[in-house]
Amino acid sequence: MDLYKWKQEYSVGVATLNQQHQHLFELVDQLQEFMTTGQSDAVITTTLRELMACTRQHFLAEEALMTECSFPGLDAHRIEHKKINRAVLKFIRDFEAGEKRFRVQLLDFMIDWLTTHILTTDMLYSQFLLAKAPPDAHSGQLRQSPHSSVASSRKG
Ligand SMILES: [Fe+2]
Ligand SMILES: [Fe+2]
Repeated sequence: MDLYKWKQEYSVGVATLNQQHQHLFELVDQLQEFMTTGQSDAVITTTLRELMACTRQHFLAEEALMTECSFPGLDAHRIEHKKINRAVLKFIRDFEAGEKRFRVQLLDFMIDWLTTHILTTDMLYSQFLLAKAPPDAHSGQLRQSPHSSVASSRKG
């Protein structure tokens, strides 16, 4: 439906992490479409579970990168990730328990954490990395050092 889409302003300057963010937006968008077109609970639950798995995988990738780069805000960032993981899990459990009234809240929550977390918390490591390794003038990407080993080893 393209209601929820990744935008350039969400770029954290690391291609792999940007791709993961894009995929999370795609999943939320898919979820919105499934909910508004009356897809079955089973289909919605599958998407929700995929969204949760991709979110966790993405958080681990970010934490690995922040660890590798000795980012000073790692602990606070990790705490925020944990809170989001817990909240997502609770929404999914409520949904699976038949709490249909949470549908709208769930979508609102998903899109809100995604945009707010990226634009505030993720931007902190982005700025830190940018200061350590300014963008390459030709590619517009962060230079391949020192975090390329982490970023390139993660799935997009
Ligand atoms: Fe992120
Ligand atoms: Fe994050």
